[in-house]
Amino acid sequence: MDRQLELELIDELLALKSKRAHFLDETIARNPVDHYLSEARFQLERKHIFRRLPTIAAHTSELSGAGAFLRREVAGLPVLLTRDKAGRANAFLNVCRHRGTRLVEEESGCKHRFSCPYHAWTYASSGELIAAPHFEEGFAGLQKSDLRLKRLTCEERHGFIWVTADEDSPVTLDDHLGPLGEELDALGIEDMFVAQQDAPVHAANWKILVEGGIEAYHFKVAHRATIGPYFEDNLSSYRMIGSHMRSILMRTSMTKLEAEARQDWRLRDHAQILYTIFPNTALLVQSDHIAWINQEALSAGETRVRMTTLAPNREADRPDHWKRNHAITRATLDEDFEIGESIQASIASGANDHMLFGRFEGALDAFNKVVDRQLDGVASQAVAAE
Ligand code: FES
Ligand SMILES: [Fe+2]
Repeated sequence: MDRQLELELIDELLALKSKRAHFLDETIARNPVDHYLSEARFQLERKHIFRRLPTIAAHTSELSGAGAFLRREVAGLPVLLTRDKAGRANAFLNVCRHRGTRLVEEESGCKHRFSCPYHAWTYASSGELIAAPHFEEGFAGLQKSDLRLKRLTCEERHGFIWVTADEDSPVTLDDHLGPLGEELDALGIEDMFVAQQDAPVHAANWKILVEGGIEAYHFKVAHRATIGPYFEDNLSSYRMIGSHMRSILMRTSMTKLEAEARQDWRLRDHAQILYTIFPNTALLVQSDHIAWINQEALSAGETRVRMTTLAPNREADRPDHWKRNHAITRATLDEDFEIGESIQASIASGANDHMLFGRFEGALDAFNKVVDRQLDGVASQAVAAE
């Protein structure tokens, strides 16, 4: 982050704190509860958001050497990530081109040849069909070169492997990230490794889980037993960066900076910097590591939350330290996710027509406006068709 901006963000929060004020949007806002419940709406989000935009499928280190492979679900599709002999990261549909068997069952591993368990059609890590028993006899006239694994757009940038599931999508990663790309580069994510990861499924809409991370209104209440005491009450700011967001959640320690030389001020030590990379990734930048959270939407009411502690490579010799760190982040986030599940179960009752966002919860409205913009035009057609 630009140094000038870093200082401005600190000044802004310190000024709000000294005035006992909050970071406020112009108005309160509402979002229909149907947006979290409707399966038809979810299918539109899947098609027009999750499949059309580049999303993060893995960290670079999860596909670390030639021959490494990884199985993932991206936007509801079974995906095989491979690193081929040329060192390039690839994303394919994990589906045999013969009769559609799932090609790879293992979650991850290392090999350059993938043989289908049904009739042994065998594919290279670069996707070519390289062997198929009795092919010339049984499939006369067909070319193996036409039966490569189905490739998805895959780019390795900023320390992550990004996949765009819809091959006709016109959105490039550069277009999608815009100026956020430079800010991601500054985080040095490619020099980090996956210290810990888990991926439980939570019974809540993906947007509820995203919303739970981008306001500080709940910190002193929902997190009173964990991180609550270390943060100011309801004091956070946010800025949009295109479709994405940078939120700053102020720690109580920030006020001590006023007694220190301005050139030594470091935002990261006194705030949680949270990047919400639209649609489904959160990077929680801590002073010495990053908690990376991917909300993998499975249905309107279910989301797999892949939570990863990314630690610097130079500190790979501290596994117990990162294990403890991960457990703390997990315990805190579980407080959010439990509430997310409670919201999902309760809003179906019809008690509220809308979610209500206070003026200090403007980030939630801003996030939902981006969702709505992506569905502009298509959502109303779907509702009319229902
Ligand atoms: S379905 Fe894969 S080889 Fe037949
Ligand atoms: Fe929270």
